Amino acid sequence: MLAAIIFDLDGVLTDTAEAHFRAWKRLADSIGVPFDHAANEQLKGIDRMGSLDRIIGDRPGFNANERARLAAVKNGWYLEEIAGFTPADLFPGARAVLEEARGAGLKIALASASRNAPLLLERLGIATLFDAVADPAAVAAGKPAPDIFLAAARAVDVAPALCLGVEDAEAGITAIRAAGMASLGIGSPAVLANADRVIAAIGAFRLGEYRSA
Ligand code: BG6
Ligand code: MG
Repeated sequence: MLAAIIFDLDGVLTDTAEAHFRAWKRLADSIGVPFDHAANEQLKGIDRMGSLDRIIGDRPGFNANERARLAAVKNGWYLEEIAGFTPADLFPGARAVLEEARGAGLKIALASASRNAPLLLERLGIATLFDAVADPAAVAAGKPAPDIFLAAARAVDVAPALCLGVEDAEAGITAIRAAGMASLGIGSPAVLANADRVIAAIGAFRLGEYRSA
């Protein structure tokens, strides 16, 4: 039985990867650290400070205060990137998936690592379709730990075994599985090999296939 669907946001409902890339690239260039699209791929699902730590690595001269400052600078540039987001930036079919699931009586929750998620939900015009948005600042460990998915399930009062988690990142699928939920990958089966099922895009989601499962 399925009682709740817990969605990731970035890369599942909207495409923010390029916006994150441009902001990180700008930051990396400003401190003379190499960064490319391949490196950006590895940051999907990883929280802001974790991403910065991966970009800088153990290079000398970046203490905790400086890293916090750089993370804030990057976020300012990221906010510039998403300033113009509107409902037109939802992936095709995303709104219909949320509406159909709500109509079927399922709880809908968000488990995004992004502290900008509530803002994006508003800009995308889908905030009111969510029963709960888990706060990444309030969980002990980020993805691939299960914490944020478990927090989202708790917020809608549904047992993990009755939840379907939807993710585009390898770290996110690992988190869903560790939470004891069924997992749906969005993207490439090669990258998301651990997911129970993989579809190319959210628009290909068919609720009936999961309700009868
Ligand atoms: C995830 C993205 O959803 O959120 C990551 O996949 C990003 O790329 C992370 O680093 C944190 O986002 P933010 O908006 O809090 O910096
Ligand atoms: Mg994602």
